[in-house]
Amino acid sequence: MDKKFFIKTFGCQMNVYDSHRMAKMLEEMGLKETTLQEEADVVVFNTCHIREKAAEKVFSDLGRAYLIKQERQEQGKDTIIGVTGCVVQAEDTQIMKRAPYVDFALGPLRYFRIKEVVESIFQQRETKLLDTEFSAVSKFDYLPENKAKGGCSFLAIQEGCNNFCTYCVVPYTRGVEVSRPIEEVLNEARRLVETGSVELNLLGQNVNSYHGEDKNGVERNLAYLLNKIAEIDGLERIRYTTSYPADVNDDLIDCHKNLKKLMPYLHLPIQSGSDSILKKMNRRHTKDEYLRVVEKLKEANPLIGMSSDFIVGFPGESDKDFQDTLDVVNRVKYIQAFSFKYSRRPGTPASVMDNQVEEKVKKERLQILQDLLFDYQLKFNQESVGKIMPVLFEGDGRHKGQLTGRTPYMQNLYAKADNSLLNKIVSVKVTGASTNSLKGEVL
Ligand code: SAH
Ligand code: SF4
Ligand code: F3S
Repeated sequence: MDKKFFIKTFGCQMNVYDSHRMAKMLEEMGLKETTLQEEADVVVFNTCHIREKAAEKVFSDLGRAYLIKQERQEQGKDTIIGVTGCVVQAEDTQIMKRAPYVDFALGPLRYFRIKEVVESIFQQRETKLLDTEFSAVSKFDYLPENKAKGGCSFLAIQEGCNNFCTYCVVPYTRGVEVSRPIEEVLNEARRLVETGSVELNLLGQNVNSYHGEDKNGVERNLAYLLNKIAEIDGLERIRYTTSYPADVNDDLIDCHKNLKKLMPYLHLPIQSGSDSILKKMNRRHTKDEYLRVVEKLKEANPLIGMSSDFIVGFPGESDKDFQDTLDVVNRVKYIQAFSFKYSRRPGTPASVMDNQVEEKVKKERLQILQDLLFDYQLKFNQESVGKIMPVLFEGDGRHKGQLTGRTPYMQNLYAKADNSLLNKIVSVKVTGASTNSLKGEVL
C-alpha cells in the first residue's frame, strides 16, 4: 500500500504514548507516517479535553482538515479523518454532529481498533464509526507489541483516575484507575530497551497509586515495579509521572535513595498552596503534608529537583489563598513548573461553584506566579553552567549540526553534535543557560 498517515497529538504524555501505539498499528498495515498533513490519506487528531482552549483548538484543526480533504478530493484522492482521545470521550455523539465530515471517532480506551476501522473504511464496508465504550476489557490485551522510537520511551503502566479533583475531566474521559500487571509491564519494558531505548518514563494519571498484580496474583506497588525495571540490562534511566502527593509512600521515597537509575527529578503537582482551596479541589493533602513529602524526598536524595502543576483562580481563591501558593514556590524552589488559569469544564463540580474568579484577576495572578517560577527555573539553569552532565540526545536542534537532548533534570540542552550521538547518553559540559534551555559542548 502506498498510503500515508498523519497524527497530531494534543495534551499529556499519555496521549503521546497512545499516538505512538496507533502509529505502530497503522505502519503494520503498510502505511507510512508523514509530517505533512496535505499528503496524508489518513489524518488522526489525538485530542485533549483538560482545558477549554485545548478542546476548542481541535475543532478549528478539524475545520482545516476538512478543507484539505475537499482539495484532495478534487485531485481524486480520498482522505479519512479520525479523532481519538479525551475530547471524543467527553463529546461522544456530539462530535459527529459538530464535525459531520469525521469518518471515525475512538475514545481513549478504544483506539486499539484503529487498524480494523481504517481497513474497513478503505474497503467501504463502513462509512462512519463512533466507539466510546468505557470497557472493562483492557486495551493493552489487543495492542500489538510495542517498539521503541528512540532513546527515551513512554510506557503506560496505569490509566484512569479515582481522585475526582473537582476541576478535572480526567476521571470522566479516562475512567477509573486500572493498573497493568507487573509481567506485562516488564515485558514491554524489556522490549523497548531491546529496540533501542536507554530511558523509560513510566506513565499513569496517578502513577504512584500503581498496584498491578504479579505472577502469583499478589498486588505490588510502584516501588516494587521500579526495582524490577531497574534490573533490566541496557536500561540507564528511569522516570515516572504523574504522582499524587498523598500517595507518595516510604517505599517510593527509598527508591529515590537507593535506585541509581532513577533520575533526580520529580513532578509532584500541588495545584494550590491554600488549604481551603485544596479542600474545595477535593485534594487529599494539605500544604504542610505536601511540604513534608518534599522534605522527605530531599532527605532521601539531596540532589532531587522538584516540579509541579499549579492552577490559579480556582473558584473562591482570595489574595491570601494565592499568597499561600507563592509561599510554596518560595519554599520548594521548583526547577520547572506548569501553571494554568482555572478553566471551567462542563460536568465537573467546580464549574458550578459560587465565586468564580474574574478573568482579569486570573490573568494577573498567573503572570505573578509565572514570573516567580521562571526566576527559580532560570537560577537553577544558571547554576548548571560549568557542570558536566549526562545528556540523552533525542532530536535535531534548531540549527544544522546541532542536537537537542535532556539532562537528568529534564532540562532541554542543545549542542553541536553528530547524528551518531542521537539516542545515546553523552557527557556534555554546560556552557550557557536561559529560562528554557541550556547550551553545551560534547566532551
Ligand atoms: N494526573 C495528573 C495530570 C492531570 S492534568 C495530575 O493529577 O497531576 C494536568 C494538569 O492540568 C493538572 O495537574 C492541573 O494543574 C491542570 N488542570 C486540570 N484541570 C484543569 C482545569 N479545569 N483548569 C485549569 N487547569 C487544569
Ligand atoms: Fe485529574 Fe486530580 Fe486525577 Fe490528576 S489526580 S487526573 S488532577 S482528578
Ligand atoms: Fe488531556 Fe486526556 Fe491527558 S484530557 S491531559 S489528554 S488524560
